[in-house]
Amino acid sequence: MHAFTSLSLQGVSFAFGNQTVLHQIDLHVDAGSIVALLGPSGCGKSTLLRLLAGLAQPGGGEIFFGEHRVAMRGWSLPPEARDIGMVFQDYALWPHMTVAQNVAFPLRMRRVARAERARRVMLALERVGLAPFADRKPSGLSGGQQQRVALARAIVAEPRVLLFDEPLSNLDSELRESLCLEIRQLLRQLGTTAIYVTHDRHEAEMLADRIVYLSGGGIAAIRSVTSASGEPV
Ligand SMILES: Nc1ncnc2c1ncn2[C@@H]1O[C@H](COP(=O)(O)OP(=O)(O)OP(=O)(O)O)[C@@H](O)[C@H]1O
Ligand SMILES: [Mg+2]
Repeated sequence: MHAFTSLSLQGVSFAFGNQTVLHQIDLHVDAGSIVALLGPSGCGKSTLLRLLAGLAQPGGGEIFFGEHRVAMRGWSLPPEARDIGMVFQDYALWPHMTVAQNVAFPLRMRRVARAERARRVMLALERVGLAPFADRKPSGLSGGQQQRVALARAIVAEPRVLLFDEPLSNLDSELRESLCLEIRQLLRQLGTTAIYVTHDRHEAEMLADRIVYLSGGGIAAIRSVTSASGEPV
């Protein structure tokens, strides 16, 4: 059913003014695999994610989703045309919308009919354990619940690629651990290709198939994670 996609960065560079942030990055991510991006603050993790999302344009190099080029110097496919879902550190929920309306938003953008929309919103909310909260406003939820709403919104349209930027950093450590396990389970169920930015090595090891270490504008190392969690891979 799903057309999951590999990701490929070929010689991708990015600069803010004359400050080089990423220098000729080469990275291939297999379809359906989970890569964690680790590295010190300011090393360009969010920038790399924004390039994949289409929120920033590379100064050089090319980005491919499967066979399709989505960005090169001077041209970039807009985010809404990339079939991605994103989860940020700060949830980024719309406060005036209910949980269900927040989650329905990507389906509205894709002009999914009302009945189908309602069905898929409930399915996504069930997946993150929030079905009973469909009619609440985000302000009536805990931080962990709000991030689950953001997660449901990211997966509801069944995107080809999921991008996470430190989604658990605002939560306390116990909640971080349990939500991290939930995200892993969800990603394994869905089989979606995912890039997960974090500065927490433990989180990276729990979640990812491979860990990519960014440093000094380049990839310092890539490591495979062999079932650190004890779960068969
Ligand atoms: N809007 C901007 N204008 C100029 N420089 C920026 C801008 N945004 C980020 N930078 C710089 O680009 C570099 C990479 O930033 P980025 O946000 O990608 O880092 P990061 O690895 O995500 O860091 P963190 O772990 O703190 O989130 C940093 O040196 C930062 O100062
Ligand atoms: Mg960042």
